[in-house]
Amino acid sequence: MKVNVPPIKSQGIKTKLVPWIGSIIPPNFEDQWVEPFMGTGVIAFNLAPKHALLCDTNPHLINFYQAIADGEITPEITRQFLNKEGGKLLEKGELHYYELRERFNKDHQPLDFLFLNRAGFNGMIRFNRKGGFNIPFCRKPQRFAKAYVTKIVNQVSHVSHLLESKSFVFKCQSFKETINQSNSDSIIYCDPPYIGRHADYYNGWDESHENELNKELSLTKSKFILSTWHHNDYRENEYIASLWNKYNILTREHFYHVGGSEKNRNPMIEAIVTNYDVSNHLYKEEKKPEQLSIFEAQAKYKEPNKKIWSSPT
Ligand SMILES: C[S@@+](CC[C@H](N)C(=O)[O-])C[C@H]1O[C@@H](n2cnc3c(N)ncnc32)[C@H](O)[C@@H]1O
Repeated sequence: MKVNVPPIKSQGIKTKLVPWIGSIIPPNFEDQWVEPFMGTGVIAFNLAPKHALLCDTNPHLINFYQAIADGEITPEITRQFLNKEGGKLLEKGELHYYELRERFNKDHQPLDFLFLNRAGFNGMIRFNRKGGFNIPFCRKPQRFAKAYVTKIVNQVSHVSHLLESKSFVFKCQSFKETINQSNSDSIIYCDPPYIGRHADYYNGWDESHENELNKELSLTKSKFILSTWHHNDYRENEYIASLWNKYNILTREHFYHVGGSEKNRNPMIEAIVTNYDVSNHLYKEEKKPEQLSIFEAQAKYKEPNKKIWSSPT
């Protein structure tokens, strides 16, 4: 499966998990796909359902994709913008990055958000308590060379075409509202911030959030798929045992590339939790030498008496 990278990137992006998640969607699914934590949108933009409700509490993600849906951001506008600002970056260096970051924190323009996301350190998205974007410069003044701009323009183009042909709705709201707006025919894909791993102003996630999500998902009439982490070399996700164990759990190894701290670059076992039967799913990872980030190995850690399936390899 060819996976398209979206124009916005983030540390929790699930590009590498798209085929796996796609493989557990019931065949001929035509109803509403719901994402309470859409992030970069990579899952929905690749699975391309007919109808989608895509939400997040980070308004800048929602504004960016809404601007594409409204035709305010087009591939051509993106090209012109990145050429202009990329030229200034080349001329003025990091000073321009920080001036633009200040401008974004005042005006919140979606194209400025794109620029910062692509010129900031490691493609990270992080905000301070006042809601200010606070990622430092990636230290590459030549960042927006022609080929890189074209790559981003193509990514905008892919989303733009998709939004023309599909019925996608974007909303800035909390997961609880989003889950409550789904119906019995929907599939809800939840990818919350991984508990104990990342934290920022729009990403605060603690035990009370995890408990609330568990409660909302236990009440929903929709099918749900939850992404979470299972364990890494050092520890287990204790919430698997305490909250999610009554559901179906699939595991798979994943290596995170994007992230500021070394500890977040360790391989970890990803889990998918579902409230519907996925024991017959047919997923086989394509073995490509360059895809070093997903390994075929089955999870080594396995709790006794728990329903855990590893994907067939
Ligand atoms: C792990 S990221 C989602 C990544 C996404 N699946 C992707 O591949 O790009 C989690 C997202 O949840 C959002 N978020 C954090 N707390 C939230 C809440 N209470 N309600 C809705 N979204 C929230 C964050 O802004 C972030 O974009």
